[in-house]
Amino acid sequence: MKTTQDYILANKDRFLTELFDLLRIPSVSADPAYSADVNKTAEVIAQQFTAMGLDKVEVCKTAGYPIVYAEKMLDASLPTVLVYGHYDVQPADPIELWHNPPFEPIVKTTEIHPDGAIFARGACDDKGQMFMHVKAAEAMIRSNELPCNLKFMIEGEEEVGSENLGIFVHENVEKLKADIILVSDTGMFANDVPSITTGLRGLSYVEVEVTGPNRDLHSGLYGGCVDNPINTLAHMIASLHDENNHITIPGFYDKVVELSEEERAEMAKAPFSLEKYCKALDIKEVMGEAGYSTMERGSIRPTLDVNGIWGGYIGEGAKTVIASKAYAKISMRLVPDQDPTEITELFTKHFESIAPASVKVVVKPHHGGEPAVTPIDSIGYKAASMAYESTFGKKPIPVRSGGSIPIVAMFEKVMGTKTILMGFGLDSDAIHSPNEHFGLFNFYKGIETIPYFYKYFTELSKK
Ligand code: BES
Ligand code: MN
Ligand code: MN
Repeated sequence: MKTTQDYILANKDRFLTELFDLLRIPSVSADPAYSADVNKTAEVIAQQFTAMGLDKVEVCKTAGYPIVYAEKMLDASLPTVLVYGHYDVQPADPIELWHNPPFEPIVKTTEIHPDGAIFARGACDDKGQMFMHVKAAEAMIRSNELPCNLKFMIEGEEEVGSENLGIFVHENVEKLKADIILVSDTGMFANDVPSITTGLRGLSYVEVEVTGPNRDLHSGLYGGCVDNPINTLAHMIASLHDENNHITIPGFYDKVVELSEEERAEMAKAPFSLEKYCKALDIKEVMGEAGYSTMERGSIRPTLDVNGIWGGYIGEGAKTVIASKAYAKISMRLVPDQDPTEITELFTKHFESIAPASVKVVVKPHHGGEPAVTPIDSIGYKAASMAYESTFGKKPIPVRSGGSIPIVAMFEKVMGTKTILMGFGLDSDAIHSPNEHFGLFNFYKGIETIPYFYKYFTELSKK
């Protein structure tokens, strides 16, 4: 891989310039106002694929945003790696909290990234990480060192639930056939503690609507006599956790796989500092489910969180009113073997059952996704581990993540193919937040490490 690495070194600056061009396009999939930009981003990626010498470059139409597909098939006898990533990004709001405009990328140093980090929406999630694969592949192709077959599938609806990708995968099982799926859309432990993500949580997401009286009321005339849906919604939400922060929905934990003491002891070896964690978030103390560490609470345990709550008067000054309706968006992170459809049903039944007769409740399910875990004794994991060792000089540790990429479980179900999660972001990179960034160290380390995965995966596959 010497020629590949030399190519990367010689083209470093151009890689960054090209990533900046991609980051300048506001590909926000959640907001229809940006639809032209989301479509444009797909075109730019397709142009990259064509320019670097991939074959069968296609911008595949879906009912939503297109999926960009490309491949380089060298020989049917060689293994095939399928790279998945997403070119859409989260909305940039609240925009006023950005120190620089979200779609005008800029490099600045931080305490954690003394060599500089790229600040822009999508820098880490996932344009920056997806682009590492594009540039790693370009380097291997241009250096004549691509050791196996390669397929790319980059979607534009990950941040809104990947519904059309699900349909695309079902309809294109043969086209997408691969020995392994490679994804960089997660993180690693720290820049000096490389890690490979071995698990993702699932997701069940609902919106609830609580209705009291048929119109907003004067709180002096009716207050104390008629149920206030905001008060009641707050009560209902509070009752979803008990004093130990266990979730109170009957049956919620029934299918949760408990880890063995050995597995928990292994997890506890990661150099996690609670003190640094609190300091970085400016909190005095953490909180969570009794009996579990912070690392465990954020990865191997299911959770329930309110993501948004609204109703009544929130304008300037004071308005004395009892609102007719109150709303909340609630998400539950799931772990093996919880099933998102089942959990949504359990939630709905429970939420309806705890509503007093003085209000009406409607629960509307949103998109969900299944949890996933990956074994550490597969050749895919071993190849990834050897790749990190080549570029970081130390063996990566396996870490289960709290985030969700629903397509990973689906790939396995529909195509029977396992995924390797080679993420290079850090939890502190503020993905989905204002001032999202991605370390230059991480960007380049990713581009350098990925080619070694291809090399080792091809070698281990032959044995
Ligand atoms: N890349 C993230 C998921 C992620 C980030 C996993 C860091 C592990 C570590 C992805 O783009 C994402 O944001 N997923 C959503 C779920 C999706 C269905 C909207 C999430 O986790 O909230
Ligand atoms: Mn992502
Ligand atoms: Mn995301």
